This record gives sequence, structure tokens and C-alpha cells, in this order.
Amino acid sequence: MEKGIQIAIDGPAAAGKSTIAKITANKLGYTYIDTGAMYRALTYKALKEHIDVYDDDSLSRLLERIVIELSPTEEGQIVWVDGEDVTEAIRSQEVTSNVSATAAQPQVRELMVEKQRSLATTKGVVMDGRDIGTAVLPNAELKIFMTASVEERATRRFAENSKRGIDRPMEELCQDIASRDKADTERIASPLKQASDAIFIDTTSMSIEQVADTIIQYAEKRRHL
Ligand code: DC
Repeated sequence: MEKGIQIAIDGPAAAGKSTIAKITANKLGYTYIDTGAMYRALTYKALKEHIDVYDDDSLSRLLERIVIELSPTEEGQIVWVDGEDVTEAIRSQEVTSNVSATAAQPQVRELMVEKQRSLATTKGVVMDGRDIGTAVLPNAELKIFMTASVEERATRRFAENSKRGIDRPMEELCQDIASRDKADTERIASPLKQASDAIFIDTTSMSIEQVADTIIQYAEKRRHL
């Protein structure tokens, strides 16, 4: 069987990474891993157990004793923490507001990177996050850095929220995205940064299909190198 490649997709919040990563993985028959969901799952559990989201030691101990599982289904990825389906719960406003703090803790990041590396199979993997090309899979055959303007990302999030019955004004979404960008790029531990060998894609005026097709074309080329 042909050996698959590793595809790293990084970029800021709400750039459409997970939608694109899912489509790319499906088309190539690869495993999709949403690393943001893993930070969200830890944050969910910390909030539930009243653990301070700035306390690196307590969070790391928590991360060492919980089991986070990602299972792909036809409808999308299901996220489990200690056997509880938290797929919806990890998208709550409370988790979203606290996840940047959890993700900024150095020991937490070290443990997460280890877990994420162990999930990268030889069959081929598409992993999305903030530090995949720089820290998790530095030898990935294909690295993509995707972004879009804050307004465009807020517009996409607004449409997604409307479908799920969530009503949040555009202004709040813009502020939310801008403050997460700031937290993710300015943190000391593995800040969001484009890898020097990543391909930059500005998706502001591209459709989902156009972005996915572009990445698949690159993947086909790298696969045959
Ligand atoms: O992509 P997302 O919004 O689900 O990510 C949630 C948070 O986790 C976000 O604030 C950045 C952080 N994150 C990270 O620091 N490193 C990753 N590899 C993935 C996500």
C-alpha cells in the first residue's frame, strides 16, 4: 500500500481550517486530527473540576489522568473525554473564552504535542492547529498556513452560529476573534507562527472547494516526490 504523507494546517481562529482539513482528509482517505478540540476538551474538564485555567501544574496533572479520544464519523468528528461525548460542550462560549489560557501553559503544550505526535499514523494524516508545522510535525511533507481577514472570519462564524441557533452579534464575534489572535500569537510557548517552509493561503475571497482543491493539488505533488 502507498504510504501516506503528513499534512499540517495552521492558522488563526475561525480561518476554516477544520472544514478544509476534514474535506482534504476525506478525499485522500487520511486520518483527520483536530488538535484545537484536544485543548478544548482539557479546558472543558478543567472548568468542570474547578481547576484554574492558568495553573500549569494542575492542568498537566489533569491532562495526564484523563483520556481524550477523537473518533471520525460520517457527520464529523466526535470528541470524548473519559467516555463522555463532549463534541457540543467544547464549543460553548465558556470553553471558547478560557481555551487560550489553557493552551498558553508550557507543560500542557509539551504533553499535548506528545499525544498529537503519537496520533500521526503512517497511513497519512491531516492535522490542524496553531503549531503543527512548527512544533508537532516539523517534518510534515506539506505545510499550509491559512488565514482570512478578521471580518471574513467573523462573517463565516456568524453563518455557522446561525445554523446552530446561536445568536451573537458580528461586533462581538470580531472582538472575540481579534483577541484570540492576539493571545495565540503573543504567548511565549509555541506561539502561532507560519513555518518557514509552509505555503501561505489567504482564503478571504476563496470558496471552501477552491481552498480544498488547492491543498489536494499540493498533496498529490508531494505524495509523488
Ligand atoms: O482551533 P480552535 O479554535 O478549536 O482552538 C482552540 C484554542 O486552542 C485556540 O485558542 C488555540 C489553541 N490551540 C493551540 O494553541 N494549538 C493547537 N495546535 C490547536 C489549538
